[in-house]
Amino acid sequence: MGLRICQSAAELAPFAKTGGLGDMVAGLARALGRAGHEVRAFLPFYAPIARLDHRFTLVDYLRDVELQLGSRRFRYSVFSARLPDSEVDVYFVHCPALYHHDSVYSSGWDEYLRYALLGRATLESCQRMGWAPDVVHVHDWHTALVPVYLRTLYAWDRLFARTRTVLTLHNLGYAGSFGAHVLPDLGLEASAHLLHQEDLAAGRVSFLRTGLLHADYLSTVSRTYAREIQTPEHGFGQEALLRARADRLVGIVNGVDYGEWDPARDPHLPHKYSARGLAGKGRMKRALLERVGLPFSERAPVIGVVSRLTAQKGLDLLFDVLPDLLTQRDLRFVALGSGEPRYESFLAWLQTSFPGRAWYYRGYHEELAHWIEAGADLFVMPSRYEPCGLNQMYSLRYGTPPVVRRTGGLADTVELWNPMTREGTGFPFEHFTPEGLRWALDYALRVYQDPEAWRQLQTNGMAKDFSWGLQVREYEELYRRALA
Ligand code: ADP
Ligand code: GLC
Repeated sequence: MGLRICQSAAELAPFAKTGGLGDMVAGLARALGRAGHEVRAFLPFYAPIARLDHRFTLVDYLRDVELQLGSRRFRYSVFSARLPDSEVDVYFVHCPALYHHDSVYSSGWDEYLRYALLGRATLESCQRMGWAPDVVHVHDWHTALVPVYLRTLYAWDRLFARTRTVLTLHNLGYAGSFGAHVLPDLGLEASAHLLHQEDLAAGRVSFLRTGLLHADYLSTVSRTYAREIQTPEHGFGQEALLRARADRLVGIVNGVDYGEWDPARDPHLPHKYSARGLAGKGRMKRALLERVGLPFSERAPVIGVVSRLTAQKGLDLLFDVLPDLLTQRDLRFVALGSGEPRYESFLAWLQTSFPGRAWYYRGYHEELAHWIEAGADLFVMPSRYEPCGLNQMYSLRYGTPPVVRRTGGLADTVELWNPMTREGTGFPFEHFTPEGLRWALDYALRVYQDPEAWRQLQTNGMAKDFSWGLQVREYEELYRRALA
């Protein structure tokens, strides 16, 4: 029998996405819907969503709902829309007082209120719908208070008597930590004994840690990351708690939405291709280089990067490696991304220092991301840590072997090319050092010189199937465990 599953998150593609979180929540919701479950997803009605060319319907019985957060009174309404190409209803919490910013995240003082309200509006909407979810599935720190809310503010409501909670950790690097003075606004002043006592003693409250304590089950987005976060190196201070709850923690690699990311039918690409015929990929390489104004050469491989530019992504390693490599070899380098200024200035510097070889676009550009996946020969992701990572899986499908640091989801999805057995899909390197990256790039460039081996490597990657249709089974099993 199908389950009633409520998803609540800060991002959901295509409505709101800054990275893989939005892709993952949408892909999972869509796959659950296809598998016959009843899925309702909750998301803020961020100001940019309202400007999309999309029909949103005001939910009549969720109009002008009042919600008191401490001494502050808010009013919200809920709009709904179908998640494109799915059976899933998305509910958008419209609260202009909190979601008026021009971007998804705001870094304003009221960030805690924005997501506390999302969590509470999720539960109160279920109440008003008279809809008893079997599972409330929350993601990252933003909605991690929902499990404790079910144990406190909403414990009286029989509607939720059988509801279980799952918290998925997409990135331990963000804990949603605020001064303890926000407790009354969170509605948790009377439940302080349920919060992490050391945090409170230090005058802080963390959304994520509260979720780690109270969710019935925890999951993260790859098996390796599930192990890594139980160690001091990757646990961001949560490792002891995660170890204590290890029997409730599972790692499930994200699926890929091949409806969106498949070179055989990608609407963003002027030239399509598949493992059976790679001619279109050659044409995409030419088209990409022409688009960015770099000269084409059959023998010069194109290295691509599409990334949020944060320390997590490990692009520091490029500082040491790329200038030498671009000096010594005939290469093209094409990068897309935005974020911390030091990475942006480095990439801009590369472009001016290596004219005709390096190119950089600063910003977010959906179409260009698809073009780089298709037009590049190699894709680089030297992450310090990577809970799952989607781009390496897109690269595999696009016949663009990835060079990755062997960590988290990268370790679980990319296998080292073995010239003897002709198995493997890419070039993982072990140590987070410039030498590690340089070794992997040199290896990749050597294999590139052998067209037959390269072709085999590409085909190996393109044959991998990380589709949601497969991955969703593991979530179903997790939900059934939580409900058992
Ligand atoms: P993360 O979520 O940590 O950023 P993932 O690899 O899981 O890493 O997901 C990144 C997603 O965001 C991919 O879909 C990628 O194509 C997209 N993305 C990242 N930066 C950009 C950008 N500048 N322009 C377009 N898409 C981007
Ligand atoms: C986070 C992680 C990334 C993961 C994504 C979706 O943004 O950084 O590795 O793929 O969430 O789960």
